[in-house]
Amino acid sequence: MAIVIPTINLKGGVAKTTTTVGLAEVLAAEFKKKVLLIDLDPQTSATTMLIGDRRWKELNKNGYTLAALFEEALDPDESKFILDKTLQKNVSNISSLRNLDLLPSSLDLINIQDVLAKMPTGPFYSDNPIEILKKAIRPIKYNYDYILIDCPPNMGIITLNGLRIANGYIIPAIPDVLSTYGIPYIVDRIEEFSNNMDIKIEALGIVVTKFKEDSKVHKDILGKLKKGMIPHVFKSIFKESNQIAKAADYSQQYSTFKEKWEEDGQYNAFCNLAKDIIERYEG
Ligand SMILES: Nc1ncnc2c1ncn2[C@@H]1O[C@H](COP(=O)(O)OP(=O)(O)OP(=O)(O)O)[C@@H](O)[C@H]1O
Ligand SMILES: [Mg+2]
Repeated sequence: MAIVIPTINLKGGVAKTTTTVGLAEVLAAEFKKKVLLIDLDPQTSATTMLIGDRRWKELNKNGYTLAALFEEALDPDESKFILDKTLQKNVSNISSLRNLDLLPSSLDLINIQDVLAKMPTGPFYSDNPIEILKKAIRPIKYNYDYILIDCPPNMGIITLNGLRIANGYIIPAIPDVLSTYGIPYIVDRIEEFSNNMDIKIEALGIVVTKFKEDSKVHKDILGKLKKGMIPHVFKSIFKESNQIAKAADYSQQYSTFKEKWEEDGQYNAFCNLAKDIIERYEG
């Protein structure tokens, strides 16, 4: 069964999506894993990075996004979510890449989130709003080695759907005061959630992003993070780089993963991050 790893930070713009997409691509391209990326963020950044704006608009128009899944949960009499049509196979703008699939997001998730939050929760409700995603991926979870989840910068009910099926989570963070401030809260909150649900969700570690080598603040905070007790800081450090920002543009075409992420050492950083995760789960 797939290992499920969401990417979480309550701070916006800390490279959650970039980390999730790059990690999904490296696992598929360099480590030959079968990977599914689930985009739970209504901003649809991971979706547009992997299939482009035009294809996303078409899917959204036809209701083939995760918004349909959550809408259906609100109105179970009407069947809206069609897994086969929503699941996008062999995505990414790297032409040689195979085995990366996507469940795309939609801007419509913003409104749905507010309504879902008012649904009753708890183990005695058959349509528990925290289990919607878990039920939906049941038919396909054996098809993948890894399922990565791009979460919005909050701990709302849609993010909890991702955590419900998680084995471990990663926290991307810029090593500055505001991007790291919320980390202890996230760790505590997820621990509380996993205790309540009686499941185990491991804090896999902090991924340092947008690191500026010439910044004293970045160096000091990185030092503090490394000395801190939990969670562990991954060895891979992602430096601030123009190439990464360019990689967000789907209209650029690449033939290999290396070509897309190589510049400024991001290629190695992604490979090492993937290695650490594979080692953790596959020994
Ligand atoms: N190492 C880096 N160097 C330079 N730019 C980067 C780097 N990592 C990410 N970026 C850019 O920073 C911006 C924010 O990154 P990203 O969208 O991945 O963050 P996020 O945490 O997912 O944001 P949000 O909270 O809005 O979902 C994007 O334009 C991205 O291309
Ligand atoms: Mg994002």
